[in-house]
Amino acid sequence: MEKNATTERPEQIDPKTSDNRVVIFDTTLRDGEQSPGASMNLSEKIVIAQALRDLRVDVIEAGFPIASPGDFEAVRAIARQVQGPTIAGLARCQKQDIDRAWDALQDATHKRIHVFLATSAIHREYKLNMAKEEIVRRAVEGVTMARAYCDDVEFSAEDAARTEPDFLAEVVERVIEAGATTVNIPDTVGYAMPNQFSDLIHHLKSHVRDIDKAIISVHCHNDLGMAVANSLAAVKAGARQIECTINGIGERAGNCSLEEAVMAMRTRRDYFDLETNINTRAIFPTSKLVSNITGLHVQRNKAIVGQNAFAHEAGIHQHGVLKHQETYEIMKPEDVGIKSNQLVLGKHSGRHAFRNWVEEHGYTLSDEEFQRAFEAFKVLADKKKDIYDADIEALIEGGLNRQ
Ligand code: KIV
Ligand code: ZN
Repeated sequence: MEKNATTERPEQIDPKTSDNRVVIFDTTLRDGEQSPGASMNLSEKIVIAQALRDLRVDVIEAGFPIASPGDFEAVRAIARQVQGPTIAGLARCQKQDIDRAWDALQDATHKRIHVFLATSAIHREYKLNMAKEEIVRRAVEGVTMARAYCDDVEFSAEDAARTEPDFLAEVVERVIEAGATTVNIPDTVGYAMPNQFSDLIHHLKSHVRDIDKAIISVHCHNDLGMAVANSLAAVKAGARQIECTINGIGERAGNCSLEEAVMAMRTRRDYFDLETNINTRAIFPTSKLVSNITGLHVQRNKAIVGQNAFAHEAGIHQHGVLKHQETYEIMKPEDVGIKSNQLVLGKHSGRHAFRNWVEEHGYTLSDEEFQRAFEAFKVLADKKKDIYDADIEALIEGGLNRQ
């Protein structure tokens, strides 16, 4: 096995990272694929990895090479074919896992070995049957083995959010000493609350020696719907890498949604003062691609990429948006790759939106014709849930013919 890196820490942890730069680590192809029903074949994974490159994520976690021959092949193919982002492979703190991950990553221009070990009491006792000292020893061993191959090594303390903060600080300190360049603090079961998670990051920043030698990362699951909120609370507290997936897919209720975290930091730059490298215009096409490939539909009211995210039905809102888009929109649809907002005609719509529709569809109606058509539309809208263009055309043309 080739040994191409020393255990010396690189001068700069990550040249792309400045004080206010958040690294976007995408795990759609690893944790995202762990969504029940989301498995993907090799060519689908390559297509998604290319889309993630175009989205300009910093790190693509391409898989868990020891998990299966298919995962190994996927990591190897992505490492060969997708240039630009760092390619990461997951491994337990065990030699055979680390060797396998390193083999799979060989052809990547930028490689990262991502080792993990659980640290919480419940995992120590029931899953690993290990005392605290053994956890520290194995974590250090894992990082040391990975650093013997690679100068970019991430350590994840699985179930960190439920780990005693002082013990977590000890583990983090020891893995940084062993050469970890990123330390990841997962909320593996989506248990944390934003203030508490922010306190945990502050605790690590104030209790871990040399914490600034590594990037603090967070990896939040969404069991209580807090994955994005917790990730954002963590970056506000000083974390500088967010692990996330497209459309928030992932184990159980999923992971932090990339599009929501990125657009929150961008839209509320005034609050966060943080930057990512994401090409936000590629967000919607990537969301569609992942949904089409995995067959996991995006809920209609999902923030940023749901069908209703930029649609207005209420008359008061439609009137406002027609006058000035920012009355009811805090982001421009074009900024996330959606062509335009949508004024949906339904029973809550008013005459401003109806007139807008009439004009956009090339009709010139007298006041009387307009009034008749609008009344007919309101009657129809009370009876029919979805109003299509053809419905309105039919009632306008029917009205005109009856004159
Ligand atoms: O949720 C988790 O803890 C993980 C780790 C392997 C990072 O996915
Ligand atoms: Zn996870």
